[in-house]
Amino acid sequence: MSSLFLVLIVHTLSSSRIHAFSHTYLVQWRGEKDFAYSPREFREAEFRNALQAEDLSSSSLKFESVMGDSAQPNQTNQNDIIQLMSTEVSKMNVINGASRCATVRNLYEVLGEGESYESCASAASEKDSFTMDERAGASWAVRCRDYRNGRVGKAVNVGKTFEREAIIGISKVTDQLRGPVSLSTPTVLLYVAIFPGSRYLLLRELGHGFPDLRKFDPNTRRCITSTPLEPIAAFVMANCARVRPGSSVIDLYAGSCATLLAAGGLCKDVKTVGVERDNDWLVPFEKIREDFTIRDLPPPHLIRGDSRDPKTLQEALDANNGNPFDVIMADPPYGKREKKDTNASEPLFDIVNACVTLPLLKKNGRLVVFVPVETEHLDTRSSMEVLESLCVTKPLLISAKLQLRELLSQRLNAHLSRLLLVFEHVST
Ligand SMILES: C[S@@+](CC[C@H](N)C(=O)[O-])C[C@H]1O[C@@H](n2cnc3c(N)ncnc32)[C@H](O)[C@@H]1O
Repeated sequence: MSSLFLVLIVHTLSSSRIHAFSHTYLVQWRGEKDFAYSPREFREAEFRNALQAEDLSSSSLKFESVMGDSAQPNQTNQNDIIQLMSTEVSKMNVINGASRCATVRNLYEVLGEGESYESCASAASEKDSFTMDERAGASWAVRCRDYRNGRVGKAVNVGKTFEREAIIGISKVTDQLRGPVSLSTPTVLLYVAIFPGSRYLLLRELGHGFPDLRKFDPNTRRCITSTPLEPIAAFVMANCARVRPGSSVIDLYAGSCATLLAAGGLCKDVKTVGVERDNDWLVPFEKIREDFTIRDLPPPHLIRGDSRDPKTLQEALDANNGNPFDVIMADPPYGKREKKDTNASEPLFDIVNACVTLPLLKKNGRLVVFVPVETEHLDTRSSMEVLESLCVTKPLLISAKLQLRELLSQRLNAHLSRLLLVFEHVST
């Protein structure tokens, strides 16, 4: 990882071993394409912001790797990374936060940790791991996973002997459950997982990440454009923007509206506005509206225009009853697949400048932007130097009342990376 991002991630991630079991979870992340595509910084930022969208008072969130050095993330099908996460957020908000995240596959509660089946079960049995109802009659099952060789995915399923030993080893916990075993649809699903370093965890499955992302895939959409944003990226943006029920959300470079679909996917009652410059043949608005209605989402207010033009921006504000937006999202042209205007200014400059021209963003509102940068610059530049290379200076940020909250990078190839920038409106 580049030194720049070690410095820049706003919420420092602690690598200390996590012992507060009552607030410890195991997160299994979802990968996409190759490993670098949804890097760890994106995943953690999505989860942290999704939790804050659920519970604004939450800030403590620590991640710890359990796979050790043996993890083999570069192999194909090794996309998933597993991490421990500790937080003070309530269990219900953690479950809700995880269910918003495109990068989360599964969420588990850590009931106990030890160096054997018996010791992790002893640790679990000291806590109130189950409700009275669960103890009295809930169906249950135990599954076993062996991650010691650093692999995730199908390779971690274990044989019958292992399973038998594990189930006997954790009997101190399963003896508390009086209900029937149900292998297919248990109410209480326990996992015994062994990690490198002979670290045994007794887990309970709590929930999953955002369901059915495929429903948002570009190849399921009616509006076909040449540069649609893939769903994981769009949901990461919407979560980093902390879209909440009732939020007003604008995309200044809307294209096929992947970001607005993600905002609607998170909270059905968001109000969405999209600004798009291309003509109806290239970006057909009617098809975009269909993409919302067939997913049972309210269609966005769409404006054909140039988001650098104050008249277009005023029209966008009018579409929000003259009020500033809670969220601005933008995935401006890279100048790679789409042609770039001659003498065009940097899109990030245009977006920040738009916030100077008109009161587009509410107090504490969030601006979330994807921007391409040369990979080689990331290792050597500070965050402000990166912003300055995109023509965004400190005085411009001050005039726009914007403060940088996150600067996350995603390596697209050896030469090109994509930055995810998150700003917050800090007006007094
Ligand atoms: C990278 S694409 C956005 C893709 C979009 N996120 C999606 O999922 O389809 C950039 C879009 O911005 C539009 N665009 C470029 N410059 C613009 C401007 N000044 N104002 C409004 N739209 C613009 C392009 O026509 C293109 O559709």
